[in-house]
Amino acid sequence: HTKYRPFQPVAIENRTWPDQEITSAPLWSSVDLRDGNQALVEPMTVEQKKEFFKLLVDVGFKEIEVGFPAASQLDFDFVRWLVEEDQVPDDVYIQVLTQARPELIERTYESLKGAKKAIVHVYNSTSTTQREQVFRLDKEGIKNIAVNGALCVKEHAEKNPGTEWVFQYSPESFTGTETDYAVEVCDAVIDVWQPTPDNKCIINLPATVEVATPNRFADQIEYFCRNVKKRDSIIVSLHTHNDRGCGVAAAELGLMAGADRIEGTLLGNGERTGNMDVVTMAMNMYSQGVDPKLQLGDMDRIVSVVQSCTQLPVHPRHPYAGELVFTAFSGSHQDAIKKCLANQTSDKPWDVAYLPIDPMDVGRSYQEVIRVNSQSGKGGVAFALEQEYGLALPRWLQVELSPIVQQFSEKDGGVIESADMKRLFEENFMTGSTPYALG
Ligand code: KIV
Ligand code: ZN
Repeated sequence: HTKYRPFQPVAIENRTWPDQEITSAPLWSSVDLRDGNQALVEPMTVEQKKEFFKLLVDVGFKEIEVGFPAASQLDFDFVRWLVEEDQVPDDVYIQVLTQARPELIERTYESLKGAKKAIVHVYNSTSTTQREQVFRLDKEGIKNIAVNGALCVKEHAEKNPGTEWVFQYSPESFTGTETDYAVEVCDAVIDVWQPTPDNKCIINLPATVEVATPNRFADQIEYFCRNVKKRDSIIVSLHTHNDRGCGVAAAELGLMAGADRIEGTLLGNGERTGNMDVVTMAMNMYSQGVDPKLQLGDMDRIVSVVQSCTQLPVHPRHPYAGELVFTAFSGSHQDAIKKCLANQTSDKPWDVAYLPIDPMDVGRSYQEVIRVNSQSGKGGVAFALEQEYGLALPRWLQVELSPIVQQFSEKDGGVIESADMKRLFEENFMTGSTPYALG
């Protein structure tokens, strides 16, 4: 059909990324408090922002986009609170977003007065759609907006030497921009900022809207990395959204294609279908033996803070974080998990069927791995009783108890708790105080 224009791929010869693995953590930047926040039905209150900021620091982000202070008084006040109340650890950069407009850049610097370290993130849109229909400017006109914004950012920084400044530029809607033109615009910004290997700037390439398969995005990134000037003096950053459901995949392939840094949110909140989910990407790395350099060991706290600050529920099947992602109900899965867990020792690599990672690594317990309902078999019942009560039932007793439990669960219509299983065991197999089954 012809309604939608097909994506125009960029040609890459001798592509490098398909053979690459991700071998080390990228630089991470959280955009929860900005991109995540701007997508909420009810934006976060200052109190919620404070709580979320604390979580981000605890998780280990060293770069945190805290808002768009020139566009929102609440964001302005929040930045002032962070600075004046000395809430930002010495090794953390607060990042703020601004459009490439002089009055907004001026206000942005006002919000940052006295900050120790800050990333000033300036953007303008460069795509064909926005050039033609929103700004009605040609390529030169759009490039001038970027260059003037970059000049203005630099001038303000020079007037405020007390802060350690990092400059960041985003050609917004990069994925809808001719890739060679995106390079041209970024080169012009780089000419203004004159970064060096010891004083780098960040060039952030957003999939503002995800419009193509992740390999095509990675082609754009590879082309960009090969052609942009002063590659050794810039940090190439990715900012993917999830319109096609592939935000994480695009970020992963983009990293393999040469990027250094990733922006995203915890559990994927953000405009429309969300930003790329840092939890999923970091845990994907972790499960492949790569240290993501983020602390995700208390997943319940992450889920709870994100839910309470965004008012968005986390899906029970959300990778690594959902309530049900380490749970097996089916008898054959339970049986396999039980056998593998019995063989698993701390000196061996994790090798348990149906569990891609050890649930304990994200603060979950084995109790919730095997849950019993009408689909479960004797293995699940035995596992639950052993885990919870230390009852090691012999096989014949497992065989006899299992249909009783199943019948109960069918009548009850749901998950059966260990306490009920124990009661059924006692009612059916214990005479007086003698557990005759266990002798
Ligand atoms: O998605 C996007 O393009 C953005 C930019 C402002 C970086 O959020
Ligand atoms: Zn975005």
